[in-house]
Amino acid sequence: MNVSQADIAAIVQQTLTQFRPHRGFTFRSPAVTVTGGYCVYQLGEVLKELGATKVLLVADKLVHQLGLTTSCEAAITLSGLELMLFTDIAGEPDTDCIKAGAEMLNRCDADFVLGVGGGSALDAAKAIAVLGDYAGKLTDFHVGGIASRRVGLGAIPTTAGTGSEVTDIAVIKDLVLGIKVPVKGPALVPDMALIDPALMTGVPAGITAATGIDALTHAIEAYISRHSNPLSKAYAYHAIEAIGKALPIAVGYGQDIDKRYDMAVAAYKAGLAFSNAGLGLTHAISHQIGARYHLAHGVANAILLPYIMAFNALSCEAELAEVASALGVGRESMTLRERCRAAVLAVRQLVIDLGLPTSLADVDIAKRDIPLLAEQAMKDICLKGNPRDVNPNQIASLLQQVIDGTLPEGYC
Ligand SMILES: NC(=O)c1ccc[n+]([C@@H]2O[C@H](COP(=O)([O-])OP(=O)(O)OC[C@H]3O[C@@H](n4cnc5c(N)ncnc54)[C@H](O)[C@@H]3O)[C@@H](O)[C@H]2O)c1
Ligand SMILES: [Fe+2]
Repeated sequence: MNVSQADIAAIVQQTLTQFRPHRGFTFRSPAVTVTGGYCVYQLGEVLKELGATKVLLVADKLVHQLGLTTSCEAAITLSGLELMLFTDIAGEPDTDCIKAGAEMLNRCDADFVLGVGGGSALDAAKAIAVLGDYAGKLTDFHVGGIASRRVGLGAIPTTAGTGSEVTDIAVIKDLVLGIKVPVKGPALVPDMALIDPALMTGVPAGITAATGIDALTHAIEAYISRHSNPLSKAYAYHAIEAIGKALPIAVGYGQDIDKRYDMAVAAYKAGLAFSNAGLGLTHAISHQIGARYHLAHGVANAILLPYIMAFNALSCEAELAEVASALGVGRESMTLRERCRAAVLAVRQLVIDLGLPTSLADVDIAKRDIPLLAEQAMKDICLKGNPRDVNPNQIASLLQQVIDGTLPEGYC
């Protein structure tokens, strides 16, 4: 067989592409991050620095109605940039909403997409930005990475939870399949994240609690992920520490702008951590029950997290013991196992204190649905980071535990 030089070059290139240095990692984050109370007024200048001339602002409908986009709109127009609005996002985004937004992007020919809102609006903005000039469907990207985008992308979160303002993920409900699908790729990392806690002081207590537990889930799953790295671990640890202190106060007294700031920065750190280290079984199951039973993402995570931590303890006792230290419940005198147990119980207590549910007892899950939910969770991209290997039977039995509301022996 004749092997040409080009063939050899292709083989060498493929080998190099697939080569992963031992303990090596890649870390991605937005090029520009702007933070601080009322920093939204710097928006116009930052957008100009990024080369924007025509901005499509993609906002949550309620956030727009509440007047939370007014300061962004003013900052953009005062800087002489053109502004267009797409505010047709009510609830978690689906494939129809993304299609409508991408059509608008093509029509108005904007060169920058700016998401403003909770994770739903930010994910919509991210998906619209990559789909604008793509002829296929977003769900073509289920497994492949989204590598390129033609327009600039910025994100201004109005909840402190998802970390979507920094992550390489967008979660979109596929209306054909009826499930939430996380799509992933470097092009989904925004070029700019602007974090202004003044936009968050009016978030109702229930939403603050649910979104805050989502951030905690990101930080804990990233910390124990089998793909964690020193940078992701540092961000995750500090996020856990900050959330343990700030979240109860942000829920109990939402006007506390300092605690809102701490939560917003913690959600950002947790986002950086999981975007670069992956998530785990809590999110893999949460995506299935969230879409099917209309549970808010943070609420689904709050219910599942303590059970999944207890299950994962077998493979990551030392890391969970460190989570206990971050939460202020791990003492030197305790054994690893005691500290690990303290972490699980501290998270469960936090969920109770915040008034969130601790079981799926109130959700009408038919027993016959459990095997299907388990099968779908096995296919979720988030499962890759989970520290413990898992099979469908184990997920089914975990779901039964969560329905019954009983943590395994040793955690009661
Ligand atoms: N991209 C990612 O990396 C990532 C990570 C985790 C979750 N998600 C996805 O994000 C979505 C959830 O996002 P979320 O938890 O932020 O909720 P959300 O964006 O759906 O917002 C929840 C509610 O809060 C309202 N709201 C938002 N900001 C407000 C404000 N400042 N004041 C008053 N009300 C406000 C919204 O109108 C909505 O009714 C889910 O689809 C989830 O799967 C994405
Ligand atoms: Fe999440």
